[in-house]
Amino acid sequence: MTAQLNPRGDVAVLVPAAGAGVRLGPGAPKALRPLAGEPLLVHAVRRIAAAPSVHTIVVAAPAADVGSVRAMLAPVAPVTVVAGGAERQASVAAALAAVPAGPEIVLVHDAARALTPPELVESVAAAVRAGHDAVIPVLPVVDTIKEVDAGEVVLGTVDRSALRAVQTPQGFRRSVLTAAHAAAGDPLTDDAGLVEKQGVPVVCVPGSEYALKVTRPFDLALAEHLLVAGA
Ligand code: CTP
Ligand code: MG
Repeated sequence: MTAQLNPRGDVAVLVPAAGAGVRLGPGAPKALRPLAGEPLLVHAVRRIAAAPSVHTIVVAAPAADVGSVRAMLAPVAPVTVVAGGAERQASVAAALAAVPAGPEIVLVHDAARALTPPELVESVAAAVRAGHDAVIPVLPVVDTIKEVDAGEVVLGTVDRSALRAVQTPQGFRRSVLTAAHAAAGDPLTDDAGLVEKQGVPVVCVPGSEYALKVTRPFDLALAEHLLVAGA
């Protein structure tokens, strides 16, 4: 029996949370590391559960931690927890397979983006509901971007105005995401990439600076400051 949040919601959110967090340095799997005293995954799930359209949340946890993650999230929100895989794409596929009949919109959201506001979950879901098969939240790129060779010598400067930094949650019509995962080849770092390969147009909506991905120790420190400041 799959746990449900809002039975009238039309959105399932998949939360890949099975990564090691190598770039964060030695320690527990990243999603389980504390941010202001609570695991990143708890912060992330609490915000997802606060989005009124969400019917179901499926978390892909490190295989060794499925039981403890289930217990950890039980007081936060009704969630289904499955074992993730060796690559993010495999973790998403495992979570997708656990979505019950009902929700026709599926969002994929990194546990590492722990401070993502519920409003972003709603705006991505709304764009899918409005008829877009694939929707990604993006921010403009602020740095000048150079292409370099293997020796770190600059080959050229990329036109920044045409670039976007991509966040999650990424939203999809359910059938589109299911077909893209069924056809998936080599692992990619996001789900929109799989859908692009199917020739499906992917539409951008404005992202949020609060949806930053905790990747390196600096990001964890920044996220702590943002939480203290009320994020
Ligand atoms: N993820 C996952 N399963 C994997 C790898 C990643 O579910 N096998 C999840 C992570 O837990 C994270 C999200 O995908 O919430 C984005 O991945 P990333 O930021 O790269 O996290 P990690 O893979 O844990 O970090 P690193 O690459 O530094 O090891
Ligand atoms: Mg990774």
